[in-house]
Amino acid sequence: KKTENQMLVIFGASGDLTARKLVPSLFNLFNANQLPKNFIVLGASRSDMTDTAFRKKVVLESKYLKEKFKQKSDKEIEEFANTFFYEDLGSDYDTDYSRLRKRVEDLNNKYKTGGNIMYYLSTPPTLYEPIAKNLADAGLNTQNNGWKRLIVEKPFGYSLETGKALNAGLQKYFTEPQIYRIDHYLGKETVQNLLVTRFANSIFEPLWNRNYIHHVEITNAESVGVEKRGGYYDKSGALRDMFQNHLLQIVSLIVMEPPIGDQPEEIRNEKVKALKSLRIMKDEETLHDHTIRGQYMASTINGEKVKGYREEEGVSADSTTETYAAIKFFVDNWRWKDVPFYVRTAKRMPTKVTEVVIHFKAPHHQIFQDSGLNNKDNKLVIRIQPDEGILMKFGVKVPGQGFKVERANLDFYYSSLAETHVMEAYERLLLDAMQGDATLYARADEVEAAWEFVDPILEYWKNGKDVRMYGYAAGVWGPENADELIDGIGYWRNPGE
Ligand code: BG6
Repeated sequence: KKTENQMLVIFGASGDLTARKLVPSLFNLFNANQLPKNFIVLGASRSDMTDTAFRKKVVLESKYLKEKFKQKSDKEIEEFANTFFYEDLGSDYDTDYSRLRKRVEDLNNKYKTGGNIMYYLSTPPTLYEPIAKNLADAGLNTQNNGWKRLIVEKPFGYSLETGKALNAGLQKYFTEPQIYRIDHYLGKETVQNLLVTRFANSIFEPLWNRNYIHHVEITNAESVGVEKRGGYYDKSGALRDMFQNHLLQIVSLIVMEPPIGDQPEEIRNEKVKALKSLRIMKDEETLHDHTIRGQYMASTINGEKVKGYREEEGVSADSTTETYAAIKFFVDNWRWKDVPFYVRTAKRMPTKVTEVVIHFKAPHHQIFQDSGLNNKDNKLVIRIQPDEGILMKFGVKVPGQGFKVERANLDFYYSSLAETHVMEAYERLLLDAMQGDATLYARADEVEAAWEFVDPILEYWKNGKDVRMYGYAAGVWGPENADELIDGIGYWRNPGE
């Protein structure tokens, strides 16, 4: 695919994401010769900085770049840094944008970026609409002289209502095809591989339905706590921070029907249908029985004392925000009727891991009575991270007399493709947007369908009766009571245990 000459304008350019993710990803693309011939970055934010100061901050003296690219010479890094420029937009991103326009035009003329502009909004979400409006007022959204695209970071709203309002707000100034909602999980190779596993093989898809699948389990565990983001996290919680976006995106790829082709809208149409088929939990009894939340508590991990969630900076001492969420749900369509899905996400778990486990049904008639396979069904484990790969678990005969059955694995690990450079999520997603490919970006209706499912859970957790909220010691696999959710059907698979 072709990457046209263009300018990337980053709003929130002095923030953490720019230095930690965006700039290293751009540097990777730069080193791999994937950036277009004429390409520049214009950083914009509320700090007053010169071009030189900006270059120093995010490139030349950035610890993120130094750590990752030790082998790169100063000359190479400097050459890259010279493509960075900076413009101050005032304390509320509300200066007169005609000045920004003038700067953009000058840079465009000088560096021949073809009038194509990618705006990247890495600011607090309350600023998305005001910035879009300011751009529009200054005529910086018009496509008559080069394309204009807008990338926005999550959170895309706080609820269905605010999510819809945000979509409508942005769509006043940019058309939906111009808007790219980034969900970095879609940039992960293994998440994209869900599509390939399902639709490029003939051996999985015939089994991918209620006739053969017993249940689906997804675990997203992080070993870290809320780190320095307590202020943000306490208003969000695990359900908004991870489940509404990243995990429901993964769910949509597992649940969706085969698209007619690989074009962005073909794939996204199927994902929306999938999300719309999730059974929305309406009554309190279901919400009570099918959802569990928890909070990590102070503990000692490997001899080191760690704080409980309520003691973290920025978190209120009587907070009820969840750092653990486990949800059971069903998908109301022909393929998935009555197959339970169990999805959990949490901070301060024993390890960092994300995996999808497809549990297959046992054979209808067991002839090997003494097989020793109780509770050890056929499984397909899709390891999203780390040790990215796919494991298939099945029974084989133990050599010797009789028919004793043992569990064996067929494994594929991405690390075995050593010669391939596995692109980082942001690198892949940036390049896609630069090429105008929105396949791996969330469309407005996807985001809204996800909120539609999540909203009643949030509402119940806020105002419902007998809401289950448990503490768990930092460093364990969540509250024990979460086992009740999956009891009777299986058990949580704790990777590494
Ligand atoms: C972010 C969340 O979207 O994803 C963070 O806001 C979380 O709380 C992060 O830590 C996890 O991403 P990854 O790629 O490390 O699994």
